[in-house]
Amino acid sequence: MISKFEKKRRVFKPTVLDMFKRSLDTLLCMEKNNTVLFKDTKSTKDANFSNIKNICAILSGGPAPGGHNVICGIYDSLVKSKTNSIFYGAISGPSGLVDGNLKVIDRDLIERYRNHGGFDMLGSGRTKLNKKEQFDSVIAVCKERDINVIIIIGGDDSNTNAAIMAEYFEKNNADITVVGVPKTIDGDLRNENIEVTFGFDSAVRVYSELISNIENDAVSSRKYYHFIKLMGRSASHIALECALQCHPNVAIISEEVRAQGKTLDDVAEYIANIIRERRKRSLNFGVILIPEGLLEFTQDICNLIDELNAIIASAKNQTKEEIVEKLSPNGLRALNSIPLKYQDELLMTRDSHGNVQFSNIESEKIIAEKVNEKLNDSYFAYQTHFFGYEGRCGFPTNFDCVYTYNLGITAYLLALHKKSGYICFIKNVAKNIKKWQPGGMQLSSMIKIENRNGKETRVIEKALVDLDSKTFKYYKCIRDSLAVEDDYVYVGPIQFVDKTIEVPLSLQIENKN
Ligand code: FBP
Repeated sequence: MISKFEKKRRVFKPTVLDMFKRSLDTLLCMEKNNTVLFKDTKSTKDANFSNIKNICAILSGGPAPGGHNVICGIYDSLVKSKTNSIFYGAISGPSGLVDGNLKVIDRDLIERYRNHGGFDMLGSGRTKLNKKEQFDSVIAVCKERDINVIIIIGGDDSNTNAAIMAEYFEKNNADITVVGVPKTIDGDLRNENIEVTFGFDSAVRVYSELISNIENDAVSSRKYYHFIKLMGRSASHIALECALQCHPNVAIISEEVRAQGKTLDDVAEYIANIIRERRKRSLNFGVILIPEGLLEFTQDICNLIDELNAIIASAKNQTKEEIVEKLSPNGLRALNSIPLKYQDELLMTRDSHGNVQFSNIESEKIIAEKVNEKLNDSYFAYQTHFFGYEGRCGFPTNFDCVYTYNLGITAYLLALHKKSGYICFIKNVAKNIKKWQPGGMQLSSMIKIENRNGKETRVIEKALVDLDSKTFKYYKCIRDSLAVEDDYVYVGPIQFVDKTIEVPLSLQIENKN
């Protein structure tokens, strides 16, 4: 059954960049260093539609609102090109392509998913694509279906896959163009060209609505401190943006914790001090934001994770007891600073890319318990919350709808110009849409060497919160007063009423002169 709201959203028409209203083969693709920019020069043909045979799109990693609109943008571009290409989607993420488990994306399917949240049109997955056998199998699938374009819609890990696969195809003369699209609610895939990943805006607005409802409950009931963990993996972009939108009493920014060399205990002490200060003012309630990756950024737990990674990589199938036995005295001390019932979460959970699964670690409860121990005060009562999955599949905001639809067209253009190993971007999104500039950036220029699972590995570096950014400096200026003089902002639900586009506050601050 489809809701009234969904029905309305299906017919919303995302604004299309003026240059995309022309025949797409006439746009000029201008190369500069590691990037290309698309320009409307009103010139004659610059590309040939026959460069594209059939296309396969992959939704990869965690869902992010807007993914379906990327697919709609690609689909509509194909229709416009009048080439009879078949558009496939890989079922359940990258593994679908390796196994040849594909679905045809046709008009019927597209019309059901326009401006729709989630990744359920195809499903998603986190299979790491880095083995020769996988790449050879992809080549075979592409040959069988006459596919010469693969578009990977994913975050840093998925685009690392895209880069490595593109290199393999080039070396093996496979003539398959691989293009990336920057997705993730975490906002940690960004650089001078990628100003924001799609899904970030929609997710932070869902979280901000929930946080401000809790702020109102806190000030109404006046009896609880609410510790709210926010998704975002390592980076604190989501926590910072929600802090700007809702003005909670505390928002811990992991990157600052690391820069100051703080331990988990120091963070708990910092929060306890603010609570003591509020108590003097008879304020026995408040709202505290904890970024998902915080533990990894505290000095003691970070060292512990490094030790654990080395121990876990040194032998297979070790029991928890065997792992703990191999810890150094400092490592053991750090482990014991975590309440016993949460220690297993840190010891045992890893995803397929070797990342500690912080979404499974109840850091909001760990911190709240540590603060409780420190205060030892009968006036202190707390509730804990984790906002993560509830923000990943909501309806995309107008911004995400428009941004992703145009990203889809940009990805199509990169394929048309056979720019394999490029990720699409649109610059100037904080400005009027007339100034938006689509283009592509070589993925290889974004790759660095990192230690993953005890091995030197080529990966796209996660973009963390820049402590020198205008956004963080602005938050630093206001946070001391927010800690003790409540200024909660009640943002309300996402507005879909007209075509208004509003970008995240952090992007607005960065673009202010
Ligand atoms: P990606 O966009 O990088 O795939 O991650 C999004 C995310 O929601 C993270 O914020 C979170 O840590 C992780 O996915 C949770 O993973 P899973 O969906 O496997 O539980």
